[in-house]
Amino acid sequence: MDLWERIREYQHREQQLSWHGTFREYFERVLQDPRLCRLSHARIYDMIADQGIDSDDMGHKHYRFFTGELFGLQEALDQLVEYFQSAAQRLEVRKRILLLMGPVGGGKSTVVTLLKRGLERYSRTNQGALYGLEGCPMHEEPLHLIPSTLRKEIAQHYGIYIEGELCPVCRTRLREEFRGNIEEFPVERVVLSEMNRLGIGTFSPSDPKSQDISELTGSIDFATIGQYGSESDPRAYRFDGELNIANRGLMEFIEMLKADEKFLYGLLSLSQEQQIKTGRYAMIYADEVLISHTNEAEYQQLIQNKKNEALRDRIILIRMPYNLRVSDEMKIYDKLIRESALHTVHMAPHTLEVAAMFAVLSRLKESKRSGVSLLTKLKLYDGQLVDGFTETDIRTLKQEWPDEGMTGLSPRYVINRLSLALVKSTVPCLNPLDALRALKDGLGQHSGFSAESRDSLLNLIYEVRREYDELVTAEVQKAFIYSFEDTAQMLLNAYLDNIDAYVNHRKVMDALTDEEIEPDEMLMRSIEEQIGVSENAKRAFREEILIRLSTLSRRGQHFDYRSHPGLQAAIEAKLFTDLKGIVRITTSAKAADLVHEKKRNEVAERLIEYHGYCSHCSHAALQYVGTLLER
Ligand SMILES: Nc1ncnc2c1ncn2[C@@H]1O[C@H](COP(=O)(O)OP(=O)(O)OP(=O)(O)O)[C@@H](O)[C@H]1O
Ligand SMILES: [Mg+2]
Ligand SMILES: [Zn+2]
Ligand SMILES: [Zn+2]
Repeated sequence: MDLWERIREYQHREQQLSWHGTFREYFERVLQDPRLCRLSHARIYDMIADQGIDSDDMGHKHYRFFTGELFGLQEALDQLVEYFQSAAQRLEVRKRILLLMGPVGGGKSTVVTLLKRGLERYSRTNQGALYGLEGCPMHEEPLHLIPSTLRKEIAQHYGIYIEGELCPVCRTRLREEFRGNIEEFPVERVVLSEMNRLGIGTFSPSDPKSQDISELTGSIDFATIGQYGSESDPRAYRFDGELNIANRGLMEFIEMLKADEKFLYGLLSLSQEQQIKTGRYAMIYADEVLISHTNEAEYQQLIQNKKNEALRDRIILIRMPYNLRVSDEMKIYDKLIRESALHTVHMAPHTLEVAAMFAVLSRLKESKRSGVSLLTKLKLYDGQLVDGFTETDIRTLKQEWPDEGMTGLSPRYVINRLSLALVKSTVPCLNPLDALRALKDGLGQHSGFSAESRDSLLNLIYEVRREYDELVTAEVQKAFIYSFEDTAQMLLNAYLDNIDAYVNHRKVMDALTDEEIEPDEMLMRSIEEQIGVSENAKRAFREEILIRLSTLSRRGQHFDYRSHPGLQAAIEAKLFTDLKGIVRITTSAKAADLVHEKKRNEVAERLIEYHGYCSHCSHAALQYVGTLLER
């Protein structure tokens, strides 16, 4: 790479972004591309929509703008985009403050940050470009120069909607510097940037006694009062509050409900009337999206206090519960890991899965319906098939606790615990047991848990551990068979031949001798018994399998050993039972002789090659399964 060449390219691009001209020239540009004078909500909506919106087969919309950054927040994002879509059409919602409400570490700040960074990028593109009056502290829309008496006509003639009045600074300049000649007023391209305090503001409440409203609305510039002679000369005022500088873009109000009332008051008039009350000036027009966040406890306080009715009325609430899908939770971890020291470490298979299961379980609420354990719920929410449950069941389960996901453990907690486990680990690999141990130890140190909730969290750890035991045992056992899939398929074929003959009162052909022989009852039963199919029920079971087989083949689909969940379980169990002895002897730590050693290495190799293990976690898994089978 040629650094200096690249820097020249960069500077060239930056220069291309700058444009200076007169208002007359700007107006020509607006006529050619009316998007230039969009209001803030419309610009943000277009920024999201321009990236693309996909629909899945369920009819859900997916916004590429958030893809890869936010997971499992479908509903919240739908509401958010809907808000911008309506506000873009200047519907009443534009006059509301968006309030994201959710538990700690649930992604509220991330949503706002994505919008901020998005705006910065978008304002640098042709589609997102915007212009402001040069020298205006609020880089205001140049169309404000057009007297209000002409605006109606302009709207009719050109279809251009104009809203807002000149700020005091520009008004003075227009009068004194340009003698009212708006044509010549200089205009420049505006590139939004939080760092440069252009179009993106942030306010975070601190001690209300020391925090001053000027942080939001600017302040008198005492150094220049002498020069201009009066406090009410706009040139003696700094319009540099967060609300001022956020004009045209977005204003983030962190932990809004922690702020002193005097700050909230300013927000109300801004959202309702697009006006900022500043010092001695008449109201100043501003056009910006107001986003704030809060947690549930503070929101409840707001609701309960009658005094806050005005504020409540002007809020659009978006609930941001924790994600409740294990697969999405794992994607969150993947993202956080890529950004942390953990990215150099091997994550053994199922490590993130067990951590995600635990985190999601901690957020779920027990269903009142009998026979629905938390683990069943977890699987259903994750889209896994569970015998006896339909889509409708899942919907009713979700409706049972509308505020599910507002409590529990955050992704941040999980990643922090994994990072700690890494520090303690002697090898560059974390396995599921390390993860569960770290998560468990964290419960003792976390001050936020009552003894009761700690106990129930501890129980969840054990539950996840049992799930993992099954998973890892199955995986290791599969690795013992040279090709598990082929073996399972062979067993399945033999089974299918036999039940077909049995049900249709035929004989089977012996593969070796071509003799016709009776169906092998022992073989069939040895499989069926694995999942508790009784002698009386065997005919019905066999018929059901054959029906499934013919349905699939009519659709041109292949029947493999996974096509029927019950049969899959039976075949795996049969193979595993046959194997159990050998797996136990081989994995047991005591068996030190060379034959077992060789077999162990062979299996470890297969775990590495086909199942994503590394040299550390493959042996750890073998050893662990050995101890499980010893029990
Ligand atoms: N659903 C999610 N999808 C992707 N990342 C997430 C999700 N939830 C949380 N995160 C990640 O977890 C971390 C914490 O999230 P964030 O800081 O946005 O939460 P917050 O709601 O603002 O929390 P707090 O109340 O503590 O300020 C971030 O790195 C964020 O990217
Ligand atoms: Mg935050
Ligand atoms: Zn101005
Ligand atoms: Zn590993």
